[in-house]
Amino acid sequence: MGRLRSIEAMLKARKPGHSLPQGLYNDPQTYEFDLRAIFARSWLMAGFEIELPKPGSYMALTVGPWPVLLTRDRSGRLHAFHNTCRHRGAQICPDGKGAAARLVCPYHRWAYELSGELAHASRMPADFDPARRSLGPIHIETLAGTIYICLADDPPDFAPFREAFAPLLAPHDLANAKVAFECTLVEKGNWKLVIENARECYHCPTGHPELSVAFPTGASAHFDPDEEGRTEAFNTRIAALGLEIGPVEGAWWQAIRFPLNEGCVSMTPDGKPSVAKLMCPTGDGDIGSLRWAVEPNSFCHATGDFLFMFSAMPTAPQETVVTAKWLVHKDAVEGRDYDVERLIALWNGTNFQDRDLVENNQKGVNSPGYRPGPYSPDAESLLMRFVDWYCVRAQAFIDEAGPV
Ligand code: FES
Ligand SMILES: [Fe+2]
Repeated sequence: MGRLRSIEAMLKARKPGHSLPQGLYNDPQTYEFDLRAIFARSWLMAGFEIELPKPGSYMALTVGPWPVLLTRDRSGRLHAFHNTCRHRGAQICPDGKGAAARLVCPYHRWAYELSGELAHASRMPADFDPARRSLGPIHIETLAGTIYICLADDPPDFAPFREAFAPLLAPHDLANAKVAFECTLVEKGNWKLVIENARECYHCPTGHPELSVAFPTGASAHFDPDEEGRTEAFNTRIAALGLEIGPVEGAWWQAIRFPLNEGCVSMTPDGKPSVAKLMCPTGDGDIGSLRWAVEPNSFCHATGDFLFMFSAMPTAPQETVVTAKWLVHKDAVEGRDYDVERLIALWNGTNFQDRDLVENNQKGVNSPGYRPGPYSPDAESLLMRFVDWYCVRAQAFIDEAGPV
């Protein structure tokens, strides 16, 4: 309770429109709080249906410190479980992807169906009831080929997000995609500094000169490039192609299709496509970028030729692991239709640049001289939206816990 009281004091001391009090960025108690108040209670983007391509496929990942397991059962249905054995709790699958007829715990070989039921446990007494030892389920939802999980008993309503966003994403045909590359990056910074950085492009003109070729770094909210008539012309052309534009948004999600810089059709170092076989062939792939973000920790960009996913997981008070994935059309052949180095060049370089910015930000925030400073409503509006959302969710968790 003392912990909640100190977090609440920091939330109350927070000046709206300003960066957060220091303790919300570097205190070990805040880290523990954020895991319970934010990561255990939000829909988190876990990946893509094509990462579990057939019955028997599984994917294990870690949410904060918690191991999670996604499976596709014999009937093709997706499930999510806590990745902990119902015997003595060992982690059943290491992080990564694979396929198996059953999931076998490495410790004493208890075996589970992909639908979660315990199928076999040796040397247990006659009154042992396997039906009571199924894997612990986690909520899972899919949306036009993307997968989201929520560890809460009573998750936020997912339907409005699906209804609003699926029509924008569907033309990108994620059912016929493949993961061309994925990697992780450890950043020595609090997860909120990682996401604040990811929600603004104030730093882009100097922090990401390469990104600035294709990306409208001067754009304000809703990625309006603020150039005479460009958004209107883009919207008219995209609407004529039959694609939805948005913006659509809810408290914890937002999406929009927006124009890239003049002459650019993809997020590559030169703005030219990086994949010859398009994911979304509409308009010959000249469709700007569909960007969506899900609080607390992810965003994606989908151009005509590929899709980029960014997800950040807190692993310590001042450490975050970023996962990046690049999807292309499943029939795109590496070496013929695309070159991996060129495909990942822009976002991978951007991620490294952002890591340095975040680590530098964390060092300064740890200074006794740190004081919360004002955000730019023009350049940092999506960041402000994230921080406001965080504070509301944090306070709601404290309120639900009762008097502190
Ligand atoms: S902990 Fe899994 S079988 Fe014992
Ligand atoms: Fe950045």
